[in-house]
Amino acid sequence: MKIRPIPVLAALLVAAAAPVFAAEAKLDFATQIKPILASRCLSCHQSGALFGELNLENHDMAFKKRRNGPVILPGRPDSSMLYLVLKLPPKEMKAMPPNGHRIPDREVQLIHDWIKQGAEWPAGAEGVIRPPAAKADTGS
Ligand code: HEC
Repeated sequence: MKIRPIPVLAALLVAAAAPVFAAEAKLDFATQIKPILASRCLSCHQSGALFGELNLENHDMAFKKRRNGPVILPGRPDSSMLYLVLKLPPKEMKAMPPNGHRIPDREVQLIHDWIKQGAEWPAGAEGVIRPPAAKADTGS
């Protein structure tokens, strides 16, 4: 007799139900998601540094076909690499960011909820993310 699936399913349901409350307020890409990607991810995921074949500079690039498949599946954070890599144990090769720093749980939750809500990413200037400015830029 199989008894294992029941506790596993129960645990999954609890895990799945929790974020629903947090997700009620509609997240705003420009003010809540963009700053996270800009400060934590863009240094390695933009046209000048295309690690993992992933460019997060704008909507079209982020949703572009890659050999490893899409990183964002709107509505399905638990199948979206963009979220899953943030949950990996730091010693995993694909844990992001890879330099051992974890991003705060609150930000991980925001990414989760944003994908859950449909991963809306505006097409215009609002949706364009620039890599962090180089320090030298502030001189003149
Ligand atoms: C210091 C550089 C660096 C930073 C910062 C960084 N990444 Fe990465 N990222 C990489 C490298 C290198 C790979 C390729 C790893 C591999 O394929 O094994 C990668 C791959 C990925 C992939 C693709 C995984 C796959 O299976 O195809 C995703 C998704 C990803 N990163 C998301 C993020 C997110 C989200 C952030 C910000 C929280 C981030 N990364 C920050 C270097 C970085």
